[in-house]
Formats: sequence, structure tokens, C-alpha cells
Amino acid sequence: MDYEKLYSNNAKKMRSSEIRRLLEISQQPGVISFGGGLPNPNAFPVEEIREIVNKILDEEGTKALQYGPTAGLKDFIELLATFVKQDGIKAGVENILTTVGSQQALDIVGRIFLNENDVVMVGLPTYLGGINAFLAYGAKLVGVPLDENGMRVDLLEEKIKELKNKGENVKLIYTIPTFQNPAGVELSLERRKRMLEIAEEYDLLILEDDPYGKLRFEGEAIPPIKAFDENGHVIYMATFSKILSPGIRLAYVVAPEEIAKKMILAKQSMDLCTSTLTQTIAYHYIKNGYMKNHLPKIIEMYKRKRDIMLQSLEEYFPPGCKWTHPRGGMFLWVELPEYINTVEMFPEAIEKKVAYVTGKSFFVDGGGLNTMRLNFTNAGDDEIKEGIKRLAEVVKKRVK
Ligand SMILES: Cc1ncc(COP(=O)(O)O)c(C=O)c1O
Repeated sequence: MDYEKLYSNNAKKMRSSEIRRLLEISQQPGVISFGGGLPNPNAFPVEEIREIVNKILDEEGTKALQYGPTAGLKDFIELLATFVKQDGIKAGVENILTTVGSQQALDIVGRIFLNENDVVMVGLPTYLGGINAFLAYGAKLVGVPLDENGMRVDLLEEKIKELKNKGENVKLIYTIPTFQNPAGVELSLERRKRMLEIAEEYDLLILEDDPYGKLRFEGEAIPPIKAFDENGHVIYMATFSKILSPGIRLAYVVAPEEIAKKMILAKQSMDLCTSTLTQTIAYHYIKNGYMKNHLPKIIEMYKRKRDIMLQSLEEYFPPGCKWTHPRGGMFLWVELPEYINTVEMFPEAIEKKVAYVTGKSFFVDGGGLNTMRLNFTNAGDDEIKEGIKRLAEVVKKRVK
């Protein structure tokens, strides 16, 4: 039977993630992979979770194994309200919902806001999972270049003006302001404030995606844009994936009440509720003070790994290559000389048993051919050095 003719228009717009495909290739034996956005397995607090799960099953097993409210368990949502307050975000329980990873939150936002040809402003580069979520609803994605201080908000405004003049329906600005995936850069405080002003002036929403904000190795913390949002222009989302475990599939959204309600409605038909078991685990993990003790440990580990990668790049990479010095997060962004194409180079890297993600995957305008994203958190310390050495050999062969 020809299934194609049965698929919905939305299904036809879905794209498979280039990264997922590359990751499969990079899982060959012996390959040192800087590809995936994976936390380090040693960063998972297995013993503490075992202790919490045992306690939950002993004391509140029947509740933790039951369905729960779509927005999330009441106690957990209340705790999240105090959790986000640490970052200056004012939220009541009516503003918060849990989601199955922030990937689900991206999909929900697409579902409730995007019609065919609506415009989403995104970074050049930006997170591929965001791109695919918006494309699935038929959105047009318009890229705005980044520099070392994040998205160029001056260009953002110019482009929005231009698009509006052409009659385009610009609705959202999608941004990952802190330790951006893939580039690792931070949006400066001034630019955060300016972005919010632009959203207010042009009647747009900012979708602030913040999986990495708590993984800061150095520098003053910059408040999330949501902390300045007095007029309901920001939908904020964060996840437990990078600070606790991606396997628990747990994230949360802080949104203006009306939007939160609509998101909950959309979520209801997707999955009824987020796992009550993992919400209860995360609840106790924070409540018992484990999170407070755990974060400095992973920050120390990831900082060390970033330093090893930076030192190795310095030591082995040829002149003419540039890379970012992320002050936190999980990724470093490398720019090779213009004439080197990292897509064409990829098979050779795999042959040399090292993998990266081609930068092109993160560009909505076909650019970034000479760039790549390197994850520094997943590989072992010695592997990072060896992997960069192997990668440098591949690059050197192409440098003129
Ligand atoms: C910017 C960004 N947003 C969202 C996600 C999805 O995270 P999760 O669904 O695991 O919460 C990721 C994961 O890498 C990410 O980097």
C-alpha cells in the first residue's frame, strides 16, 4: 500500500535530524565522538537516584505511579516556582508547566503559534531540534548572525522591519541566550534587554530556551530574558537533561498565564501528563539539596574537559582555524578556513576515528559549510586530547 498519499501535510514537512544520522555513524567502535550533545555518564547521580526511588516506592509509590495533572504535580510546580526565582524569574504556579524534555515544549509552541509561512527568527547558527520542530508546522525560518556576544540584535531588528514591510507574519524570536547550542556563546545583558524591547515594539514573542544556563564555569551570571519580562513577551523553557539526566525526560516552561493554559491544552492531547515518577524523583532531588551539591561537581568536570579541549586545539590545530571559548555549557564552535567543507571532510574524520557535527546542520540559510560543533562533555579526558589530535591531522591535510 502507498502510505505516502495518506500522510498529513504536516507529516510531509517533517525532517529527520542530520545529527541523529551522524551520531549513528559516529557510534562505530573506536570512534572518539565530539558529536552528540550528551552529558558525561559519570555526571549521572545513580546512587542518589536509587536512594530516592526506593524511598518514593516505600512512602508514596501509589501516587508516583499514578497519572497526574497535565501541567505537572502540584508540589513539583510549586518547587519549580522557587527554583526559577533563583535566576530572577517571577512565576506563580499558573505560569508553569512541565514537559517531556524541552523538545516537547518546542513542539507545543510550534503547534499553538505557527501557521504555514509564519516567520520565526533564529540564530545563525541555531539548535537543530528547534529548526525541525518549527519546520514541521510549515514555518519560515529567518536567520540572524551571531557574534561572540550572541545574536546581533541590531540585525534582528533590521530583518524584522524588512519582513514586516513585505507583509510577512513574524511571530517568534527563538533564542538560546546562555551558552548557545551550537556556538557556545552568551547573549550579553544589553542585547537581552534590547531583544525584549524589540519583541515589545513589534508585538512578538521570545522563545527563550535555556538548557545550559546552570552550567557556568566562569564569569558573572547574566539573568535570563524572562527575568526582565514585565509585559508577557517571553516563553521561557529549561530542562533537567543537562543538569541531572536526559533519560528522565523532564523539562519545564514558564509562560504568561494565558499561554501556559493553551500549552497545557495542547499537551493534554499529546501525552496527558509528564511522567509522575520522574517529577517525583526530581522533586526530591532538589528538595533534599542534592541538586545544589551536584551542580558544582559537574561544573568542575565540564570546565576541566573544556580546558583540555581548548589546550588541545591550541596545540594541534593549524593556523587559520578559529574557535569559541565558551564560559559554560557543553559545546565549542570551530571555524576552519572558508575553502574547507566540513561535510566533505566528515567521512575522512570517521576513517581517522573521530566525529563532530557538521556546522551546516545548524544554519537555516545553507551557510556554515566551513564550521563544526564539538561537544566537550561526553568524551574521557584522554580521549579529548587524542580526538583533537586526530581531527587536527584531517584538517591539516586540507589547509592550503
Ligand atoms: C538548545 C536546546 N534545546 C532543547 C534541547 C532538548 O533537550 P531535552 O528535550 O532533552 O530537554 C536541547 C538538547 O540538546 C538543546 O540543546
